[in-house]
Amino acid sequence: MTIHFRGRIAVVTGGAMGIGAATAATFGELGARVAVLDRDREKGTETVNDLKGRGYAASFHACDVEDIESVRAAVDDAVRQHGGLHVVAHCAGIQRYGDAVATSLEVWRETLAVNLDGCFHVTRCALPHLVAAGGGAIVIVGSVQTVVAIANSAAYVTAKHAVAGLTRSIALDFAKKNIRANCVMPGAIDTPLLRGAANLSPDPEAVLRACAQAHPVGRIGRPEEVARAIAFLASDWASFITGATLAVDGGMLVPAGGMAFQEGGTGSVGNR
Ligand SMILES: NC(=O)c1ccc[n+]([C@@H]2O[C@H](COP(=O)([O-])OP(=O)(O)OC[C@H]3O[C@@H](n4cnc5c(N)ncnc54)[C@H](O)[C@@H]3O)[C@@H](O)[C@H]2O)c1
Repeated sequence: MTIHFRGRIAVVTGGAMGIGAATAATFGELGARVAVLDRDREKGTETVNDLKGRGYAASFHACDVEDIESVRAAVDDAVRQHGGLHVVAHCAGIQRYGDAVATSLEVWRETLAVNLDGCFHVTRCALPHLVAAGGGAIVIVGSVQTVVAIANSAAYVTAKHAVAGLTRSIALDFAKKNIRANCVMPGAIDTPLLRGAANLSPDPEAVLRACAQAHPVGRIGRPEEVARAIAFLASDWASFITGATLAVDGGMLVPAGGMAFQEGGTGSVGNR
């Protein structure tokens, strides 16, 4: 048996670009019909036209994951158009910065509204369709910040920690309905989100170099490397995996004390 999604229908939120676009393409390549949900109508349409150009069955449905009614309309539209729903990949997300004092209430609410409430809204609207299909799989895109904190990112870190809780709740509550839920935790991945964050610095290239060094493999990741992990967890090959968090981070979470500590040759990795 090889991984495939023939006869399956997948919804990918945030599918217009970055990790979501790579995930939509991977599902398409593996035989799924793919519905791309995104608030960026122009990029979303472009991405779907590209998928269709590659011969995949794909559709675009505009929605803002902050707004449950727009999500419901988009999910229902996708289900009507494709004839069901088996897989949901939650890739829509935003990055905002600030410590717990500097983060304004507005930024706090926006970050949680997209990154956490958005996953809840999509789950609420999609789950009944998965149940009706006799089962399915959900993959939520967390972050390494689902289990550790990175400085100056209080709202993002909080939202990304919370999605692990949502993942485990879905896994537990819907296991008997043949629905699995898992979370992937990417390190730094080369997407418009990461480039946008780097561009906040006067020296974006230096930021990208520092990001690369933060991963033991010495580079940042590619969107399709996350997409493949999502596809694996959504596939029948992962049939006994639910409620799990999977780091897709080039080893970023592995070192104790960080790379500077290791490279300094102190402690257990000192010069011999
Ligand atoms: N790129 C990274 O380094 C990285 C690392 C860890 C986790 N992540 C997570 O991966 C996910 C995807 O990130 P990315 O890097 O591909 O980002 P991206 O900005 O490149 O793409 C995100 C997509 O989500 C869409 N989106 C944003 N807010 C939305 C909303 N309210 N409603 C509907 N669509 C919305 C955007 O239009 C865009 O198409 C996010 O959850 C992000 O937090 C990214």
